[in-house]
Amino acid sequence: MRAIADFLAPDFTIIGHRGAAGLVPENTLPGFQRALELGCPMIELDVHRVADAEAQLLVLHDAELDRTTSGSGEIADHTLAELRRLDAGGGERIPLLEEVAELLIEHRSRAGLETVLNVELKGSNTAEPTAAFAARHPELPLLVSSFQHSELTAYRRLRPVDWVAPLYARYDANWQATAERLSACAVNLSWRIATPSRVRAIRSAGYAVFVYTVNQLRTARRLKDMGVSGVFTDRPDRLLADGRWRGG
Ligand code: G3P
Ligand code: CA
Repeated sequence: MRAIADFLAPDFTIIGHRGAAGLVPENTLPGFQRALELGCPMIELDVHRVADAEAQLLVLHDAELDRTTSGSGEIADHTLAELRRLDAGGGERIPLLEEVAELLIEHRSRAGLETVLNVELKGSNTAEPTAAFAARHPELPLLVSSFQHSELTAYRRLRPVDWVAPLYARYDANWQATAERLSACAVNLSWRIATPSRVRAIRSAGYAVFVYTVNQLRTARRLKDMGVSGVFTDRPDRLLADGRWRGG
């Protein structure tokens, strides 16, 4: 079995956050395309389940439609057909996870590059359709993460060997027990809680540490020097311009 590190930059990985959210409307196909063109070795997105199409996962950050689409109200109150008629920015539809997979497969055959897909489970009942997605796409290197550790537990039961990472917005002293229980490969932190001693402890325990959301080069450099494995960024153009980790 290959390790996630085999797909990433040797010492620091620039991850396209919601595609390239600072450059192109977040979580849209052109955003993911931009992150791939910029050379991100991993792209991140968020998924929700749709009430009337249980096998489909919708790529959207919020549970509500108002901030990023032409719609309003909760995703849960709409059918897939209604959701797919909305404008997610720049005239783009809200993508399905399956469409992002197609983009990655096409990128791999065109550019010869394998890109890790980081799927963040948002909302409940996302573990099962994501596990089905993983089973349909054994060719895609996939990292599954979530703030909802119960969803990751459910995912782990369905997919015993995939890469998973618990996310933390606030520090939790029990992170190691959680990571061990999940057989995680990484522990992902907000930059607000990524202190040198915590990063050192997580790395020493054998886990990667990916930190969100970092849009300034000086912050990325500081985190790299701290031992962080990589950062999620809305501005992969800016961070990839640093020659010290270009080409990863
Ligand atoms: O996975 C890192 C980051 O995306 C988590 O925060 O709110 O941007 O989904 P958020
Ligand atoms: Ca996310």
